[in-house]
Amino acid sequence: METRLIPFNDAAIAEAARLILGGQPVAVATETVYGLAADAMNPEAVARIYEAKGRPSFNPLIVHVPDQEAAERIGEFSAEARPLAEEHWPGPLTLVVPLRSETSIASLVTAGLPNIALRVPAHPAMQALLRAAGRPLAAPSANASGSISPTRAEHVLKSLGGRIPLVIDAGPTERGLESTIVAAAGAPLRLLRPGPIQVDAEAAPTATIEAPGQLASHYAPSKPLRLDALAAEAGEFLIGFGEIAGDLIFRSSGDHREAAARLFDLLHHADASTKPAIAVAAVPDTGLGRAINDRLRRAAHRR
Ligand code: TXA
Ligand code: MG
Repeated sequence: METRLIPFNDAAIAEAARLILGGQPVAVATETVYGLAADAMNPEAVARIYEAKGRPSFNPLIVHVPDQEAAERIGEFSAEARPLAEEHWPGPLTLVVPLRSETSIASLVTAGLPNIALRVPAHPAMQALLRAAGRPLAAPSANASGSISPTRAEHVLKSLGGRIPLVIDAGPTERGLESTIVAAAGAPLRLLRPGPIQVDAEAAPTATIEAPGQLASHYAPSKPLRLDALAAEAGEFLIGFGEIAGDLIFRSSGDHREAAARLFDLLHHADASTKPAIAVAAVPDTGLGRAINDRLRRAAHRR
């Protein structure tokens, strides 16, 4: 794939919005770092973010919206959360709040969690893209997994060149540091990631971030889960793959994008079934399969 680098202007935003509505991820400047944005309501588009980053696990992603009104349609804002949003949005603050049940945010975005990270960015390029696409945009930093966050379009090209269709170049980012993340899903407020904005919240060192999969609150089914199943044993709800049929199956597109897109939905279904246990067929450990297997291993490891 050829990666185009286009300076931020109306034509660039129109092209980026076209790609995003077609299910592609696009790199765009924000005031913190460049983000790799995709339609948060399209599970395969979200899977493409992970694919492009080569992330070996599914961390929940921040969803970007144009204003607080849009944020309140997706998340529930408490009496503690709303004043923070009013004071700091648009800007480099991310709030983790309970996800409303009636939204159509892809479950891969929240990695199956009941909470969602929301941010109203200030940068005109990301703002323009949000308004042109008319969709909430999931966007992690636009770098390959394990490398540092990009503060210039050239950093994005070096890291993701050939893996994404477009980078919107708006020069170096102003803040150069990822947003402050505050959990506001029940009192007290907890600081999940320090960042450009100082907030009076309890530090929550166990819930941090950059170590993939280390998040304390990762979704886990309530039932025992058996991996590499060839067939269902007594009492098991089987999630099949490829040749192995089950109660539900991962469709086996060669790139595992569909399997990734459906992973958390399937686990929720399995968890909600009347069967007391879950079994999952083996998913090849290639490409997105690595992230799928990382999550399945964590789900199998009971706490
Ligand atoms: O400044 C930023 O925040 C940039 C720009 C692009 O907006 N984005 C960014 O995303 O830094 P990322 O993926 O590198 O970091 C997102 C972190 C995740 O690692 C995760 O810990 C936390 O946000 N997060 C996202 N959703 C969450 C949730 N539902 N619950 C708890 N933490 C969440
Ligand atoms: Mg990052």
